[in-house]
Amino acid sequence: MTRYLVTSALPYSNGRLHVGHIAGAYLPADSYVRYLRARGRTVRFICGSDDNGVASLISARKENRPVEELTRDYHDRQAADFAGLRIRFDVYGGTHHPDFVETHNRLSQAFFRAIPDKGFFTKKKTQQLYDAVAGQFLPDRYVKGTCNFCGYREAYGDQCEACGKSIDPLALINPVSTITGTPPEPRETTHWYLRLDRFEQPLREWLEGKRDSWRELVLNFSLGQIKQGLVERAMTRDLSWGVPVPLDDPDAAGKVLYVWFDAPIGYVSFAAKLCEELGEGPEAYARWWKDPDCRIVHFIGEDNIVFHAIIWPAMLLAEGTYQLPHQVVANAFLNIKFPGKEEEKVSKSRGAAIWIEDYLKKYDPDPLRYYLTTIAPENQRTTFDVEDFIARNNGELGNTLGNFINRALTFTVKHFEGRVPPAGARDQRDEAQVAARATQAEKVAAQLEEFRFKYALYEVMELARMANRYMDEKAPWTQRKTDLAACGTTLNVCIQTIRTLMVVMEPFLPATAEKCAAMLGLRSIPMWDEATDELPAGHVLGEPQILFKRLETAEL
Ligand code: 2FM
Ligand code: ZN
Repeated sequence: MTRYLVTSALPYSNGRLHVGHIAGAYLPADSYVRYLRARGRTVRFICGSDDNGVASLISARKENRPVEELTRDYHDRQAADFAGLRIRFDVYGGTHHPDFVETHNRLSQAFFRAIPDKGFFTKKKTQQLYDAVAGQFLPDRYVKGTCNFCGYREAYGDQCEACGKSIDPLALINPVSTITGTPPEPRETTHWYLRLDRFEQPLREWLEGKRDSWRELVLNFSLGQIKQGLVERAMTRDLSWGVPVPLDDPDAAGKVLYVWFDAPIGYVSFAAKLCEELGEGPEAYARWWKDPDCRIVHFIGEDNIVFHAIIWPAMLLAEGTYQLPHQVVANAFLNIKFPGKEEEKVSKSRGAAIWIEDYLKKYDPDPLRYYLTTIAPENQRTTFDVEDFIARNNGELGNTLGNFINRALTFTVKHFEGRVPPAGARDQRDEAQVAARATQAEKVAAQLEEFRFKYALYEVMELARMANRYMDEKAPWTQRKTDLAACGTTLNVCIQTIRTLMVVMEPFLPATAEKCAAMLGLRSIPMWDEATDELPAGHVLGEPQILFKRLETAEL
């Protein structure tokens, strides 16, 4: 049977997580994994921190503490954010985390070493800007200066914002290091470049084969890149922080792997570590990574498309023994809109963000999970609008979903001694509602199989809306006085509907689904295929509780 290895992009462990991160690579992955598990499929869900690379070094310098401490600290804080949001990985590693770094370095180095013999690297000498004060070579975007095309004085070393041209940092006029503010000098250095051009054809064919199953966002971008032609890219860096280049070559001394080379190997090394911990042995990871019975599914943000749909697959082809990803699910970025302000891009420096740590101090995970799924940026940018978040929490979650469940259960507790009433004879209206349980569960599943989370959740809510209409039309509060058996039938159908709702909401609203289970007097949430089974008459229910707190704008 098909197995699944699902990954979420490894967040850089040099900052906090905000709602945009969660909507992009983590929440949909978690919903997908929960769904797969409910279907009884075998899954491993892998994530961890991206600790290496120059970004962490620079943050450490800014925060004036050792990089090991910085990455460890943010690793822990991000892991706590995920746990608080009920995003539940099987392993949360870290590319430089003490528990993972040995396995990670070993597998990354073995991966790198497999490539030169096959001729997919070129070793090249180039000139690069060196910051003598910081004692390091400067990545392009850490150099500023005057654009050699248009004269704009604040141009970055990779691209000029004014004229849009891509820049050779060595051509910048009066370059300045953004790390120390001092002028850098050109120095000669040697690096290993991956011959991406050699993989244009296999990558194009592979991507063409995904036409019917991958998002356009991913396909258009990647095929567009291939059409423009792929050029070789350096896979090594002059840095002291990262995975040492494992070549017996004096030119490799003091160099590390490019962070985008070792980061995706984190998916492999964390999986390997998990296999070891489960006592499956050091080679067991190959069952997931090299066996075509396993589907590899990557969830990422849109800025990661080139790495997951071009460079990582090229690396896998170059190495030669791994399989390619089955699916790469990318989401666009989120804009943000605060009450009384214009919509804007998320920005740390302007404080335009909602941090997960802050959110979780006061609120439950499910309202945020709900909102982020309803606005999921599956094909283009969407907006997190704080007022809309509140309105949907109070309206859709509170008035529609929560209220239906609460009304049905409190009524049953009050008038039927907290036991599922007998089903009695069902009329057409009852039967229609019973049938809706199955059709909606199927619709939710069909959307989830296609990675359409927003629509899947819409179908969950459709069932809640149908249930509310059903209950209003049947009016058990009146039936109780005129026809007690019919009233019992109505409540029976409502309770069976809650049971289905619980199963189909679980991928999106796991904490709420658990509360539903408790309220229904169940110890666990049934599997997906049992979503339309019925609770027997007489089954003892639990205590009803309020599922969603009302929120006010002022308070937020
Ligand atoms: O963009 C990012 O946040 C990267 N740290 C994602 C890495 S994904 C993977 F390849 F590890
Ligand atoms: Zn310019």
